[in-house]
Amino acid sequence: MAGTGGTSGRAGVVGLGTMGAGIAEVLARGGWSVTGVEEQPDALTRAEGRIMASTAYAESRGKLAEGEGAAVRARLSYETSIDALADCDLVVEAVPELPELKQRVFARLDAVVGANALLATNTSSLSVTSLAASTSDPSRVVGLHFFNPAPVQPLVEVISTVLTSAGTLDRVREILAGLGKTTIACRDRAGFVVNGLLIGYLNSAATWYERGYATREEIDDALVSAGMPMGPLALLDLVGLDVTVAVLQRMYLQFGDRRYLPAPLLTSLVEAGLLGRKTGRGLYTYDGSTPTATTTGAPGVVPPPPASRAGELPEALLVPYLNDALTMVGVGYASPATVDTGMSLGCRMPPPFDQLAAIGPERALAVQRQVFDETADPGYRPALLLEQLAAADDPDLALHVLRRADR
Ligand code: CAA
Repeated sequence: MAGTGGTSGRAGVVGLGTMGAGIAEVLARGGWSVTGVEEQPDALTRAEGRIMASTAYAESRGKLAEGEGAAVRARLSYETSIDALADCDLVVEAVPELPELKQRVFARLDAVVGANALLATNTSSLSVTSLAASTSDPSRVVGLHFFNPAPVQPLVEVISTVLTSAGTLDRVREILAGLGKTTIACRDRAGFVVNGLLIGYLNSAATWYERGYATREEIDDALVSAGMPMGPLALLDLVGLDVTVAVLQRMYLQFGDRRYLPAPLLTSLVEAGLLGRKTGRGLYTYDGSTPTATTTGAPGVVPPPPASRAGELPEALLVPYLNDALTMVGVGYASPATVDTGMSLGCRMPPPFDQLAAIGPERALAVQRQVFDETADPGYRPALLLEQLAAADDPDLALHVLRRADR
């Protein structure tokens, strides 16, 4: 593809775990010849199995025409060395979130690929800028943040650094459009847009569970009833507890907000190797990808005596998340439309500004003040924009105007 202006060519994906295998599948479905790399042959076999299952399921659901799954799989090859990626136009790195490992992969890629190749990282928790700066040509490095499951979620966050060239961004946007993905542009900041809102919400849900405020099922059911495609605890298991903890730690380091200190339960589960669906056990236990019908808590959880606060759900978890969305808009990191696109296309959640409109700014402010008073945590202070909306003569109209202003 390089230099031709086309939108398919040869791609490499390094690391074929849940995300890497999904990204490789997305590229192959978009017509790219894809080489997936894992050092261990058994990891390659697992990835091949995952892609087989996903493409077969896509066919069964009519997302791929009959027989197309086989054509997609034929565009994929599997290698154990990065050296096999020498003639790629685009390489996406999706190895585990370990800084030294990612640096090593980037150093090798930098040495192997041609001068016109684009390099991307799917990192959720590391600085794209520092990975870019460690290469000989940082202008061709971007973050491409896909969402799990990558073949299902239509969004990709495109993260540019202060070193990324405009030409790289144009090429990347063209490629993603060719793959049928919607993009939002993000500056390199911990969490980007989607995790910047999602991960605090997930951590609060874990804290609620750990403190015995509500059962696992009460928490998840309440949020599903509020329109979420899955409950936050089930979503934690899907995302991976290790990934969540890594993102939280980076957000805590960057923003200094103690709400982002990982719930101790999450850290314990990670230390125990119980990472969620990918290991068969996390906050839930899985038989395949289905949670088993157990009502026992996660291992090691001894909930305190019942002091149920389930009646405060879903608002107690939902409103702080909407407050964060207003804070993000207020500091100029993202517009309401970008936030809505991010959450609805990255996570299939209702657009946060629709949820805020449904609750109403005044009610949201009352709930947020209660949370802030109770926790005395500055991270829960009502967003200035929320205060302003609630104080307007017509708060609903003020919210409407805020949403329209950024079109
Ligand atoms: N290929 C293509 N399409 C597929 C597919 C595949 N392999 N697998 C499923 N689909 C489609 C289905 O056809 C179905 O489409 P329609 O809605 O058009 O019918 C849709 O995906 C849902 O599939 P299912 O009905 O089989 O499953 P479900 O309804 O139980 O949904 C889910 C499962 C897709 C996981 C859904 O619950 C969901 O989207 N949850 C939210 C997940 C989320 O938030 N992901 C982002 C996490 S954050 C992240 O990843 C980034 C990070 O850094 C942490």
